[in-house]
Amino acid sequence: MTQALPVLIQGGMGVAVSDWRLALAVSEAGHLGVVSGTALDTVMIRRLQLGDDGGHIRRALAAFPVAEAAESIVERYFVAGGKQADQRFSRTSMRREKPSRHLEDLLVAANFVEVYLAKQGHGGQVGINYLEKLQAATLPSLYGAMLAGVDYVLMGAGIPRAIPAVLDRLAKGLPVELKLDVKGAGSDDEFRARFDPAAAMRGCVPPVTRPAFLAIVSSHVLASMLAGKLESPVDGFIVEESSAGGHNAPPRGKLQLNEAGEPIYGDRDLPDLAAIRQLGLPFWLAGGRADAEQVRQALELGAAGVQVGTAFAYCEESGFDPDVKRRVLELSRQSKAQVFTDPLASPSGFPFKVVELEGTLSDADVYEHRTREPCELGYLRTAYRTDDGNIGWRCPSEPVQDYVRKGGAPEDTAGRKCVCGGLLATVGLGQIQHQGAKEPALVTSGDQVSDIARFLPPGADTYRAIDVIRQLLPEG
Ligand SMILES: Cc1cc2nc3c(=O)[nH]c(=O)nc-3n(C[C@H](O)[C@H](O)[C@H](O)COP(=O)(O)O)c2cc1C
Repeated sequence: MTQALPVLIQGGMGVAVSDWRLALAVSEAGHLGVVSGTALDTVMIRRLQLGDDGGHIRRALAAFPVAEAAESIVERYFVAGGKQADQRFSRTSMRREKPSRHLEDLLVAANFVEVYLAKQGHGGQVGINYLEKLQAATLPSLYGAMLAGVDYVLMGAGIPRAIPAVLDRLAKGLPVELKLDVKGAGSDDEFRARFDPAAAMRGCVPPVTRPAFLAIVSSHVLASMLAGKLESPVDGFIVEESSAGGHNAPPRGKLQLNEAGEPIYGDRDLPDLAAIRQLGLPFWLAGGRADAEQVRQALELGAAGVQVGTAFAYCEESGFDPDVKRRVLELSRQSKAQVFTDPLASPSGFPFKVVELEGTLSDADVYEHRTREPCELGYLRTAYRTDDGNIGWRCPSEPVQDYVRKGGAPEDTAGRKCVCGGLLATVGLGQIQHQGAKEPALVTSGDQVSDIARFLPPGADTYRAIDVIRQLLPEG
């Protein structure tokens, strides 16, 4: 971390909510803009199939160091003028833990493209956010972001203990591996994802810089583990509370639900900031911190600053479909915008915050009428050991009979939503289902969604990232 620490971090928001445009706007203003690193292979090929409006993807791919890989991606996926509205998107292989040369190229290039575009035209810093649980694609994704000069890597939803050392090795151009969590694996099983920069770069490895690594945590216990006993420690923490958008850490102890069916969080779930401060590493507070008073309080508590998501998710530069933004802003104006912390929706098993919005998957009718289809995205699947000692993958949101055939318990499928498909639909990249229906959207936000209309300038229907920044940091 050579430059000064940012006071304001715009949180990574998947899928493609914090895309390169939002991160660029925040970084250009002198703060840390963060792109989401989730599902970027699918995001990139779908954007290409929609005609690559503005030519940005092709412009970034033209700067990708392996020209033959970039050309083959454009040739395979770019559709001039965009695909027909009722035509399905073509897809990639889901074997990200053991990718073909093409899939590995796609993962490296897609992460390169998003960071490259976010870094254009300013000297500011850019970060990328990943979920630890999505391990299969992590290694080539990290390397792609590093090739584009990413300054920070942020990772939550799991225990990213292996990542700092992986970044050290990738910065030296060395091969890396990552142990995969596989249900049912015994002590003799060795399930690992592997990545070799030399092979990916066709023998010509360019110099890359090691980015700083921030772990997203919700407890001081995890923070102290990541600050200490590792081969290579983390560089800092985002300390996230349960009011934050996206996935939340489950409450400690036995899960208890309130009358509405949401997990109940108590004092035990509040992070012990004194203990985190004692670790001596910089930390940022996340979750409901989008106002000047909250920023001031965070600094007083010893934090380097705050990470803010929801407020940025509804600004003009975010990837949310403009109609979603307009409708939720209108609900907020009428004091009717609210989220439900759904303990079941996400196949990951983590509580997931869902905005209650008609016509989306939060709507019981829409959920009931959606046909479950075999998974073709695969990011939130769980790996399990098959009888013959290989890796199988299952998702409680896939057709119930498929899940059960793969050894999953039928009761695990109740209330599960296709989060991957729904999130892509929310950023205008939704698939057409096999029977012709459009994949319904699924909108996530933090509790502060109730209040986002306060960022609208007087008389305006939309606001920009800079409006959020000015309210949070009125003194600049
Ligand atoms: C739409 C949306 C998507 C999000 N997706 C992710 C994600 O993919 N990974 C992650 O670590 N955090 C994610 N978050 C959390 C944000 O990065 C940030 O920490 C959080 O929003 C801060 O709390 P706030 O929403 O109250 O500002 C998401 C938040 C929102 C609003």
